[in-house]
Amino acid sequence: MVATPVSLSLRVVRKQAQTPDICSFELQSLDGSALPAFQAGAHIDIQVPGGPVRQYSLCNPPGETHRYEIAVLRDARSRGGSVGMHALREGQALEVSVPKNHFPLADDARHHVLFAGGIGVTPILAMAHALAEKGASFELHYCTRSAAVTAFRQRLADSAFADRVAFHHDDGPAADRLDVQALLQSLPLPGAHLYVCGPGGFMEWVLAAGRSAGWSEDRLHREYFAGVQIDAGADQAFEVQIASTGQVITVAADQSVTAALALNGIEVPTSCEQGVCGTCILRVLDGAPDHRDMYLTDSERALNTQFTPCCSRARSARLVLDL
Ligand code: FES
Repeated sequence: MVATPVSLSLRVVRKQAQTPDICSFELQSLDGSALPAFQAGAHIDIQVPGGPVRQYSLCNPPGETHRYEIAVLRDARSRGGSVGMHALREGQALEVSVPKNHFPLADDARHHVLFAGGIGVTPILAMAHALAEKGASFELHYCTRSAAVTAFRQRLADSAFADRVAFHHDDGPAADRLDVQALLQSLPLPGAHLYVCGPGGFMEWVLAAGRSAGWSEDRLHREYFAGVQIDAGADQAFEVQIASTGQVITVAADQSVTAALALNGIEVPTSCEQGVCGTCILRVLDGAPDHRDMYLTDSERALNTQFTPCCSRARSARLVLDL
């Protein structure tokens, strides 16, 4: 695997338990120099020591350049990312990419409705900081199982924008539950934009409510932090052809395209390997991909001119790749 190029050497200066399963990490440069600026919604790629490269959203106020802050949920199904992060100690060095933003705020929105589910609060927190800083109109709805597993609860409750934050806990009073459908139907259209980050089911629930309330797709913004689980039981082998050489490579039923290419000496840069980050995107010159990523938009997928070979497959017998 070839990791995404990383270009910052940072140190963990603070590690703090936010909940029993979520730790926040404050990162600063080794020499104290200013860090590249970032915008709300941005993430960094972190080379987890001895593990994979993983993406983590920045959650501190975007105006800050003396530190980056992230938070990581320990995932019982971790393939080395979250467990490796939780094993980090203060003082340890990390290789980190410069910030990238696939989840920006809409400049022209007249009102911003932020939805966070669990650890999905991280980019949403940075958005709230940024919107409050510039005096923009917004509200934040934060859904978790209980107050005890709500990362940054106190920070939000103490913030200057606390009056715009609503906590919704599964074990709380029924009256405090989020009625997303009613909320979105009551908000002014047009001019309002919706942003959601959290578990896949939560995101689909919020997005579906937005669509049924008449919100157009260009006002629905999302950030997935883990690939969707797809039943691979029916996967079949297919071929990919290298356009520049004509070489044809078979991708086995239980193999990714990137793995098949690597076995033939063709390295495609990857990072998340779950269809989330877009690092591996290749152009498709012929054939129909079976898109399984969360990165491309619906309209980009429909064009069938690019795909994510780390997780996507083919609906046609062969894909011709622009390699
Ligand atoms: S490596 Fe992240 S989308 Fe393929």
